[in-house]
Amino acid sequence: MYSHERIRTVIVDEHDDIARLVAGRIAALIRERAAAGQRAVLGLATGSTPIGIYRELIRLHREEKLSFANVVTFNLDEYYPMDPDSIHSYHRYMWENLFDHIDIDPANVHIPAGSASRDQVNDVCDRYESAIRRAGGIDIQILGIGKTGHIGFNEPGSGVDSRTRLVMLDPVTRKDAAADFYGEENVPREAITMGVATILEAREIAIIATGEHKAVIVRRAVEGDVNHEVAATFLQRHPATTFYVDRAAGAALTRIATPWLLDEV
Ligand code: F6R
Repeated sequence: MYSHERIRTVIVDEHDDIARLVAGRIAALIRERAAAGQRAVLGLATGSTPIGIYRELIRLHREEKLSFANVVTFNLDEYYPMDPDSIHSYHRYMWENLFDHIDIDPANVHIPAGSASRDQVNDVCDRYESAIRRAGGIDIQILGIGKTGHIGFNEPGSGVDSRTRLVMLDPVTRKDAAADFYGEENVPREAITMGVATILEAREIAIIATGEHKAVIVRRAVEGDVNHEVAATFLQRHPATTFYVDRAAGAALTRIATPWLLDEV
């Protein structure tokens, strides 16, 4: 760990290296737990960055007999309102990109209910927190990072004590999602997200970023002061977080110009 970096950061050459490293860690945890007759609890993210991890987990299932029969999952977030069958829903994303291809019990899959009515939504959020506690807490949480520094949909202003709740999306986040929704005006204005406190309770966290468009926010999260304007900075207070970045996303880090540091990978 380098003095100016406040989160342990691993810089890899190829995007695919992140998928192998993180999926490998998840697989080790699942196998360790299974050997002890226990379940593994995973916190999962959507978006473009984790796709490679899910592809690698599917490969491990098909080719190396990794079983998800004793795995419980909790997704970070879902747009609101959102029909689970919509092509835009994170429900659909998770089934298409992972769950349909592995042996997970659908009863063990948890994704915030974007279809809840307004008067149910607070209850839905409270029940989500209880379900995580009942499962014994999250063993490993996967996170991406948005341009606003959001983790989950904890946009600027989200406090360190925040819990699963309905939030307004930042205009920057809605703009970033515009292409997926065929126009910014179609992007939902709200989402249900785990809170910062919910995320920080995970025993281990792997946060991932790829591409040059993430370089500035990666540096802010890793080297900047902790501040609620950038929710990812709260990870500096978590004892077991690793930030995995490719060279493009790590390009603004103070140490990127010194190649010997890559030995740390
Ligand atoms: C998604 C989520 C978001 C994304 C972030 C990065 O479940 O919680 O925080 O991880 O917006 O998205 P991508 O990976 O598409 O750049």
